[in-house]
Amino acid sequence: MSSTRVTIFDTTLRDGEQAPGFSMHTDEKLQLARKLASLGVDILEAGFPIASDADAEAVRMIATHVRGPVIAALARCNSADIERAAWAIAPAPRRRIHTFIATSDLHLERKLRITRQECMDAAIAAVRLARRYTDDVQFSAEDATRSDPEFLWRIVEAVIHAGATTINLPDTVGYSTPDEIKNFFSRVIQRVPSSDQVVWSTHCHDDLGLAVANSLAALEGGARQVECTINGIGERAGNASLEEVVMATRVRSDRLPYETAIDTKGLYPASQLLTAVTGEGVQANKAIVGRNAFAHEAGIHQDGMLKDRRTYEIMHPQDVGVPKATLVLGKHSGRHAVQRRSEQIGVTLDRAELDVVYKAVIAHAVREKIVTDADLSAIVQRIRRIAAPDAPALHILDIDANPAEVGYGHGV
Ligand code: KIV
Ligand code: ZN
Repeated sequence: MSSTRVTIFDTTLRDGEQAPGFSMHTDEKLQLARKLASLGVDILEAGFPIASDADAEAVRMIATHVRGPVIAALARCNSADIERAAWAIAPAPRRRIHTFIATSDLHLERKLRITRQECMDAAIAAVRLARRYTDDVQFSAEDATRSDPEFLWRIVEAVIHAGATTINLPDTVGYSTPDEIKNFFSRVIQRVPSSDQVVWSTHCHDDLGLAVANSLAALEGGARQVECTINGIGERAGNASLEEVVMATRVRSDRLPYETAIDTKGLYPASQLLTAVTGEGVQANKAIVGRNAFAHEAGIHQDGMLKDRRTYEIMHPQDVGVPKATLVLGKHSGRHAVQRRSEQIGVTLDRAELDVVYKAVIAHAVREKIVTDADLSAIVQRIRRIAAPDAPALHILDIDANPAEVGYGHGV
């Protein structure tokens, strides 16, 4: 694999599913897992088998039926978790056990109530046990970014010797900044003697809205696996959004020279499927997959788009699987957009008609916020009916409008 190839570790069905409102049934997980496989994720974390029988069954079902990605299962550093994970992923031809333990003093003292030595021993034993089931073992140092660096370097070196093949250093509470994460990775990689024997992985949470920026910074620091989720779902504010990480590297390859195996045309459909399955929509202005991500309402923007889409779009909506750019008609729309949208629904307006339709569209938008294709079609029909030969002249008609509201649009 080239030194710029980044593996995408999708944890939508594990970290994502752990978030309130996102739990899924086995058949839904299977459906999503198939979608993720067709999207081209390299590693698919299917769940946390020890959490419940249903979780274990779902992971096993995915391991049985989904082909393409490595199927991973999460396990704490104890034998019951690891054996359950091993059972669940057994049917997969390529399988990974992902074992984790917290390494920050805060977590060790206050949550786990164990010493650093006990943490070290548990981690080594867990990795050794996991290696009996598969030669693909990932170790995660939970709360790595808030851990004592010297202890972190020691435990990481020890688990590499025990057989770990991927080392994941999560920013579990989304506390880091991009410059910190970049330095954090380059320093660990420099200080751990066996660092060249493993793949380094980043797993960033979005508590400060920095998960994607931090993940990209981690790549600059030497990480070559990004853990992320569709729509950025995950614990609390979520994980790094897969679609944003992938498109940032695609669109800004000049600054971020990394390749993934993701078929970007599957991003929007995957996002839509997740929304349909969980009933949790994404915010309208969410990058890449939000309803407004490729919508242009302001008259000046619509005018620019109609002349040359590059004025306001840095990627083709079709590249991420969005059917087409949408010119949303609203109170800020201009005449050009009204004309273009009319053409798109099969209506050619002459200059006089356009004037009246435009005013009616703006009046409608002021009242209803947006003007759908059906609204536009109804407006045109109404105007044409009124403009029939025996009706009064078009330009003096106040179509469906409060005169004070007419002309609210920018008119460009
Ligand atoms: O956020 C985190 O630290 C995790 C680990 C289990 C990888 O999700
Ligand atoms: Zn996490």
